[in-house]
Amino acid sequence: MMTENPFKFGTVVDGLYFTDREDELIKIGSFIKGENHLILISPRRFGKTSLIRKVLNESGRRNIYLDLQLVISGEDFAAQLLKRIYRIFPMQKLKGYIKSFRIIPSVAVNPVTGEVEISFRPGSKDLDPLEDVLNMIDKLGSDGKKIVVVLDEFQDIFRIHAGLDRLLRAVMQNHKYINYIFMGSSESMIREIFEKKNSPFYRFGSLMTLGKIPVKKFSTFLEERLAGITKHYKPVTCTILGITGCHPYYTQQLAYTVWELSGRSADAADIVEFAANEIVQSHDNDYERLWNSLNRTDMMVLAGMSISAISPLSDEFSKLYGTGAASTVFSTLLRLTQRGILIKEGSVYIIDDPFFKRWIVLRRAI
Ligand SMILES: Nc1ncnc2c1ncn2[C@@H]1O[C@H](COP(=O)(O)OP(=O)(O)OP(=O)(O)O)[C@@H](O)[C@H]1O
Ligand SMILES: [Mg+2]
Repeated sequence: MMTENPFKFGTVVDGLYFTDREDELIKIGSFIKGENHLILISPRRFGKTSLIRKVLNESGRRNIYLDLQLVISGEDFAAQLLKRIYRIFPMQKLKGYIKSFRIIPSVAVNPVTGEVEISFRPGSKDLDPLEDVLNMIDKLGSDGKKIVVVLDEFQDIFRIHAGLDRLLRAVMQNHKYINYIFMGSSESMIREIFEKKNSPFYRFGSLMTLGKIPVKKFSTFLEERLAGITKHYKPVTCTILGITGCHPYYTQQLAYTVWELSGRSADAADIVEFAANEIVQSHDNDYERLWNSLNRTDMMVLAGMSISAISPLSDEFSKLYGTGAASTVFSTLLRLTQRGILIKEGSVYIIDDPFFKRWIVLRRAI
């Protein structure tokens, strides 16, 4: 009866592991056919990369995807982009352009992987290579459909090089043959970049936020798959989504674990609890480290939020959990949101990781 685990978490998902996002697929698909640039925001692990990859695959468009989190400097940014261009254009075609670069990169083909390794004289702190590479992409795009350039974790530009926002904006605004997609998981930083009047990227594109997967869609997805291991697939699905609140990553993680454990526990009613506790247990070290990095107010707010649904900004919460003035709690909520520990859904703050929440409850109950 047991087949391969139909759930997957931690990597880009597609095919049978992917569900919903129907409206988003259409919307982004038509966006990249137009003239405007797109800004896509969501908290960590909501499925930005999976969604964008799917749109790009289905569109068949030439594209470059770069996660800025791993980019070290301006030259590295240029080199990483160039490396990805080599994957979609023949070396011969690029030669002519590269000859006119202000700094000529060194290019070496790895004989084993066939991948090219590129570097621009490191340490010169020069942004010329980046400018040259971006302008080259625009020229390459002119002979067909525009090239889609996706820059993930875009808020990292500030870490890569001071003033990079200004340079990028100055270069990108002249591009006619590139559709840019900027993505990020730090909502406040992304909004600063694209919505603050004195920011160079002010209103450079349309902002779209990606939410969780709707409960109806996720239920169907889980039920269809869990039916393979238990006849109680409906209540099991319901319990899973009750714990994860439809968070894409954590839902897949819990469902995956339930599937793995299903052979071991006969009692279907307990299996979700069992799986959730197993996940909590396996992250005990991480959670302990995270908890120890918090200050006292953070701890009090999180401890309260882990057992109660009352707004942490209310008087009642403050009385119950001793958190003090609403202004203090408010700045705590902002800080914890910036760190990704809390996420904001509409006007409500919730703990992002349901297993961290469970860990707090379990630990404090001992
Ligand atoms: N459409 C979807 N259907 C089902 N599961 C999904 C979907 N999108 C995301 N997931 C789940 O969430 C996980 C994270 O997805 P993904 O890596 O695309 O998110 P992300 O927002 O790019 O994350 P990160 O913040 O780490 O870059 C996936 O491994 C998968 O388990
Ligand atoms: Mg991602």
